[in-house]
Amino acid sequence: MSNDHSNKFLTNKELIEDDGDLTLRPKTFDEYIGQDKVKANLKVYVEAAKARGEALDHVLLYGPPGLGKTTLAHIIASELGVEIKVTSGPGIERAANLASLLTNLQDRDVLFLDEIHRLNHSIEEVLYPAMEDFVLDISTGKGAGATSLRLNLNKFTLIGATTRAGMLTGPLRDRFGVICRLEPYTQNDLVRIISRSARILKIEIATDAAKELASRSRGTPRIANRLLKRVRDFAQVFNAGGTVDLAITVKALNDMEIDPLGLDYNDIKLLNALIYKFGGGPTGLDTLAAAINEDAGTIEDVIEPYLIQLGFIARTPRGRVALKAAYDHLGAKPSKKAIEQIGFFDED
Ligand SMILES: Nc1ncnc2c1ncn2[C@@H]1O[C@H](COP(=O)(O)OP(=O)(O)O)[C@@H](O)[C@H]1O
Ligand SMILES: [Mg+2]
Repeated sequence: MSNDHSNKFLTNKELIEDDGDLTLRPKTFDEYIGQDKVKANLKVYVEAAKARGEALDHVLLYGPPGLGKTTLAHIIASELGVEIKVTSGPGIERAANLASLLTNLQDRDVLFLDEIHRLNHSIEEVLYPAMEDFVLDISTGKGAGATSLRLNLNKFTLIGATTRAGMLTGPLRDRFGVICRLEPYTQNDLVRIISRSARILKIEIATDAAKELASRSRGTPRIANRLLKRVRDFAQVFNAGGTVDLAITVKALNDMEIDPLGLDYNDIKLLNALIYKFGGGPTGLDTLAAAINEDAGTIEDVIEPYLIQLGFIARTPRGRVALKAAYDHLGAKPSKKAIEQIGFFDED
C-alpha cells in the first residue's frame, strides 16, 4: 500500500517485517512471555499427547503479525520432541508440493503452515483427508483411464498460522482440534520481553526506558525488539557508554516519528475517519474500509486489535464506535451523537 506519508511514518508493515533475529526467539514455553492462557492450555495438550505417545491434535494459531505465532509453533514442536517442517500457503503452488511435504513427515512430526489462509483451495482439499485420516489420495491419469491411489501417512500435527482467521474456509477451520487466538501483549509483558532481549543483546537499558519502549510497541514483541535495536543505535552514537536511558529513548522514538502510543499513519487515518467523517460511528466495517481505502480484513485483523486493546474503539453489532480515549488522544471534540454513544459505553 502506498501513501504520501510513507516517508514520514513507519507503517505497521515496515515495523513488523524485520524478522531476522533468531537469537531473540524464545525456545521453550518458559521463555515465551505472556499469552498465559494460550500457553497454559497448550502445555496441557502437549504433555497429554506426549504421555499417550500420540501426535498432538492439529493447532491453529491466529492473531496480528509479530505476536509470536511462528515462535510458538517452533516451541510446540520442540516441547513435543519432534521435528518441524516449515512451509507457507503461498509457498505451496501445486498439490504435489504438499504431497511431498506430507509423505516426508515422520511419526508425530509437526508441519508448520504459515499464512494458511493463502493456501490455494484446490490444494486445501488434499489437506482434508490428510488431517482427518492421515491419508493422501492421489489420482493419476485422466478421463476413463484415471485411477486413484490411497497412501497412508504417518500421524502428524499440522500447525497453521494466520492473521486472517476470517478468511479460512469452514471445512479447514473445523479440522483443527486446537484453536488459539493471540492477543496484543500487555505493557508488563512487553517490558519483560524488552528486558530479556536487552540481556541477550547485551544492551544496558534503564527501567523507565524499557517502559517507554513498551508503551510504543503496539502490543507487539516484534516491534518492541525492533525499536530496542534502533534505540540502541541512538544510545551508542549520543550517549557515552551506550546506556539506553529514558532521555535517549524518547529522543530516538520521536526522531523515528513513533507516536507516544506507537500508533502509525494507518491507525490515525482510521481514527480520523471514524471520528471526523462518521461522527464517531457506529460505522460498518465495509464503509470504514472504503473511506480509508484499506482492505476490510486488514482493518479487522491487523489494525483494530491494538486500537481495541487501547480502548480507542469498540466493535458493536451496529458497527465500529470511537471511544473517549481516542478523542482524548487526538484532541478531538465528540459530537452530540458521539457523547450519547460514549456515555452508553462508559456504563458498560
Ligand atoms: N511471547 C514472546 N516472548 C518473547 N519474545 C517473543 C514472544 N513472541 C514473539 N516474540 C519475539 O517477536 C518476534 C516475532 O514473533 P513471531 O513468532 O515471528 O511472530 P508471528 O509469527 O506471529 O508474526 C520473535 O522473533 C520473538 O523474538
Ligand atoms: Mg510468523
